[in-house]
Amino acid sequence: MGLVRFLRGAKLLGQTHLMEGETLVEHAILAGVKIATNCTSGNCGTCMVTLVEGEVSLPDPLTPGIYEELIEDGARLACIGIPLSAADVDILPPL
Ligand code: FES
Repeated sequence: MGLVRFLRGAKLLGQTHLMEGETLVEHAILAGVKIATNCTSGNCGTCMVTLVEGEVSLPDPLTPGIYEELIEDGARLACIGIPLSAADVDILPPL
């Protein structure tokens, strides 16, 4: 299984066990971590976080809330991104 951990920089904000098929936002709620959302459908980018370790799904095709260069920097959309492994996620978008 493994853990999904939420960080801000080096600071651990919370963590929870990996739950198959649940989004990062749902993991964050269980971890007691707040991730701001707006559209909850991959369109606005409000929920963008940075994947530090592990694997989190991307929309296919890409939704308007995210694009290739951001993805290369680790960006994922927490409202629709599903962790596929243990993962470390910074709750801020890539700079
Ligand atoms: S809340 Fe809009 S893209 Fe996730």
